[in-house]
Amino acid sequence: MTEIDFFKKASEEAERNRHLVRQDPNRLKYHLMPPVGLLNDPNGLIQFKGIYHVFYQWNPFDTAHGAKYWGHYSSRDLVHWKEEPIALAPDQWYDRNGCYSGSAIEFEGKLYLFYTGNVKNEDGRRETYQCLAISEDGIHFDKKGPVLELPKGYTAHFRDPKVWGKNGSFYMIVGAQTLNQEGAAVLFASKDLYHWEEKGKIAGAWMNGLEDFGYMWECPDLFELDGQEILLVSPQGLEPSGYEYHNLFQSGYFAGKLDYEKAKFKHGSFAELDRGFDFYAPQTFKDDSGRRILYGWMGITDEAESSQPTVPYRWIHALTMPRVLDMKNGRLIQIPVEEFKNLRKGKTEINDVEINGANLQLDGLSGKTAELMLESFKNGKGIFKMDFRNEASLTYNPDQKEIQLQRRNVKTGMQESRICKISSLSKLHVFMDQSSLEIFINGGEEVFTARYFPDPEDETILFSGDAGFSVSMWNLEDK
Ligand code: FRU
Repeated sequence: MTEIDFFKKASEEAERNRHLVRQDPNRLKYHLMPPVGLLNDPNGLIQFKGIYHVFYQWNPFDTAHGAKYWGHYSSRDLVHWKEEPIALAPDQWYDRNGCYSGSAIEFEGKLYLFYTGNVKNEDGRRETYQCLAISEDGIHFDKKGPVLELPKGYTAHFRDPKVWGKNGSFYMIVGAQTLNQEGAAVLFASKDLYHWEEKGKIAGAWMNGLEDFGYMWECPDLFELDGQEILLVSPQGLEPSGYEYHNLFQSGYFAGKLDYEKAKFKHGSFAELDRGFDFYAPQTFKDDSGRRILYGWMGITDEAESSQPTVPYRWIHALTMPRVLDMKNGRLIQIPVEEFKNLRKGKTEINDVEINGANLQLDGLSGKTAELMLESFKNGKGIFKMDFRNEASLTYNPDQKEIQLQRRNVKTGMQESRICKISSLSKLHVFMDQSSLEIFINGGEEVFTARYFPDPEDETILFSGDAGFSVSMWNLEDK
C-alpha cells in the first residue's frame, strides 16, 4: 500500500463507524477521545504558531492495540478542538508495526515530530528506530526516516523520544530497558536535530538510591519547573507497596538537578502523579504563556480494557483534561487549565452546607457533565463521602487521614478502590464527563482520575457523613 492508501483506509474506517460512536451514551462531551477505534498516549503536544496541537496514539481499525497511527486535533483555546487529518501512518519499513509515541518541537518555523518506529520481524524479534517527520503547516508531515538507532546496552524496548532545546543544543530523552531487563531513561544531545550523540543513562535502577525499579520505563519527559528538573516516567513492573503502585503500570516523577554536560541527574524519590485507576503515559509542553501543561492518557493497558462498555460502540479511551503543573512545597501540583471556565453554564451555589447523615441530596446538585467545587471544609469527626451517580464514590476518613476513590471493575463487577494520604481536606474540585471523573484534591495536591460507567440516566450526587462546606456546581457545555 502507498502512503495515500494507508490514510484513505483509516479515514474510511473512521467514517464507517462514526455513527456508532455518536450513539454511545458514554461518549465524552469535553474530553479528547478517538473519532473511532482505540486511543492511547498523548503525543507531540505543542503550541505551534499560536495553535495548540494534540497528537495521540491511534488504532483506527480496532478497539485493541495494534499498528499505531498518530491521530491529530488542533485548537485555539484548549477547549474547542478540530479533528485534523491523520499525521503519521505506519507505512514505512522502519515504522510498519506502529508509529509509536513521541514528541514535537518547533525549529526554524517548522514543526518537527520525533517518534518511535516499531518493527516486529517475521521471527518475532522487535526493532526500534527513533524517527523524524517535519511539517511546514503543522498538518501535513514529511517523514525523514530514522535519526537514531538502538544504542549498545539496551534491548529493543527503547522508545518514546521527548525532545527539547536548551542553551543552543537539543536534547532527547528515551525510555529504555537495559540488557538486565531494568527500566532506564537515556539522554542524547544534538545540534541539528538529525545527528544525536549519546550522553548516557541519567536515571534507572540502582541509581540515585533506587533499587530495582521496574523492567521498562515508558514515555519519559524532562523539563524545568521552579528551578529544578522534573523527569516524568511511566515504569512497568513495580509491585504494589503500601499506598503506592496499585495500577498495573505507574506514572510519576523524580525532581532534581540535571547536569547536562556530565549527563548526571541527582534526584529525589519517585512520586505518583495520579491516584486513580485510569492514568498513564502523560506528556507535557510549555505553551506561549509559559504554562507547563500536562495531558495524560485516561486509560491503561490491563486485562479489564476490553470489557469497557464503549467497545461495542467501536471506540475506547480518552485523554485527561489539560492540567497546569506547578511546584508547591517540593511537590508537583496539577490544576485544570483556566480555559475550561468558558464551558461553565447554569451555576448552582449553596453556602454553609452541613452534612449530617447518610445519602443526602442537595437542591439542584445533580448531573453527568458537570464541574463541582467544594470549599471551606469543616472536617467532622466521622467520614465524609460523596457518591457519583450510584457508581463511584469518594470517601475521606479524617481519622486515618485517608482519601479513597471507589468504583466497580468493568470486568469482574467487583468494587475496587485506590487510597492515598492527605493531611486534611480543604478543597475538592470535581470534573464529571459522562463516563469520566477527575477529582483534584486540595488545589491539585493529589488527583484521582477514573472512568466509570453509571446508568446513563442516573444523575444522582449524594453526600454522607459529617462535614461542612460551600459548594458551586456548573453544567459544562458540549465541546
Ligand atoms: C505507552 C506505550 C508506549 C508506546 C505506545 C504504543 O502506553 O506502550 O511506550 O510508544 O504506548 O502505542
